[in-house]
Amino acid sequence: MSNMKGKTLVITGATKGIGKAVAEKFAQNGVNVAFTYNSNKEAADTIAADLENKYGIKARAYALDILNLDEFKPLFKAIDEDFDRVDFFVSNAMIYGRPVIGGYGKFMKLRPAKGLTNIYTATVGAFVRGSQEAAIRMEKVGGGSIITLSSTGNLIYIENYAGHGTNKAAVEAMSRYAAVELGDMGIRVNAVSGGPIDTDALKAFTNYDEVKAETIKRSAVNRMGSPDDLAGAIYFLCTDEASWITGQTLVVDGGTTFR
Ligand SMILES: NC(=O)c1ccc[n+]([C@@H]2O[C@H](COP(=O)([O-])OP(=O)(O)OC[C@H]3O[C@@H](n4cnc5c(N)ncnc54)[C@H](OP(=O)(O)O)[C@@H]3O)[C@@H](O)[C@H]2O)c1
Repeated sequence: MSNMKGKTLVITGATKGIGKAVAEKFAQNGVNVAFTYNSNKEAADTIAADLENKYGIKARAYALDILNLDEFKPLFKAIDEDFDRVDFFVSNAMIYGRPVIGGYGKFMKLRPAKGLTNIYTATVGAFVRGSQEAAIRMEKVGGGSIITLSSTGNLIYIENYAGHGTNKAAVEAMSRYAAVELGDMGIRVNAVSGGPIDTDALKAFTNYDEVKAETIKRSAVNRMGSPDDLAGAIYFLCTDEASWITGQTLVVDGGTTFR
């Protein structure tokens, strides 16, 4: 079994949903956690305190807006002050609400210069800048593992999801390029592509009830996905058990995509 104790995870957007479950999974296994929040500072501070109290690890929350890519450099500098190493980076945060107007919607309503560009920045741009900063630190400790979140909405049609789906396809491709070029540094790069997972992001879908019912119907195991389902896959890909897995996308969808 891998020894994960004393290593450090950096993850964006861990105030709720999938990011929060990932932070907890790593903390349970003795990994220190540096995570970001955007609007929910209070929730972030509570999570950091809970992780420290429950698991005896170090956890710190930092502000980050993934639409402002210049924030990644000072973010990692702040993490350097608090943590002595970076072993894992998970690019998880995703924008919602006003910034996705013109990006979340039907094809004929897409506005490339607005919401669509924002989704590109938040998905591909944030993965690139976060991974670059993380890789500099990982190289110093002999390697590491980088994961980007993706979604099966880049494989199958999901209503209103064109903007997100195409950018998830792009970030998967970018992660394969990164895998090839960072391999010499001992860094593995993979994507975890989730089917619909019950989080606030999914609840923001205008047709949430329909998506939920359809997911359960399609799933080979007759249920919706939970944040813990993705956390387990992400954790596995960061362990030594996955040491020859790089440049891959692991689809975690309860069997919903094929059906
Ligand atoms: N839910 C699904 O069905 C599903 C399926 C497959 C893949 N995914 C992917 O999994 C990831 C997490 O999704 P989720 O459902 O857990 O989302 P979520 O519950 O909506 O959480 C989003 C996170 O992103 C942060 N965030 C929002 N706007 C931000 C900004 N401008 N800058 C920095 N951080 C920002 C939020 O922080 P604050 O709370 O502090 O604002 C929050 O921590 C996303 O990449 C998503 O595409 C989701």
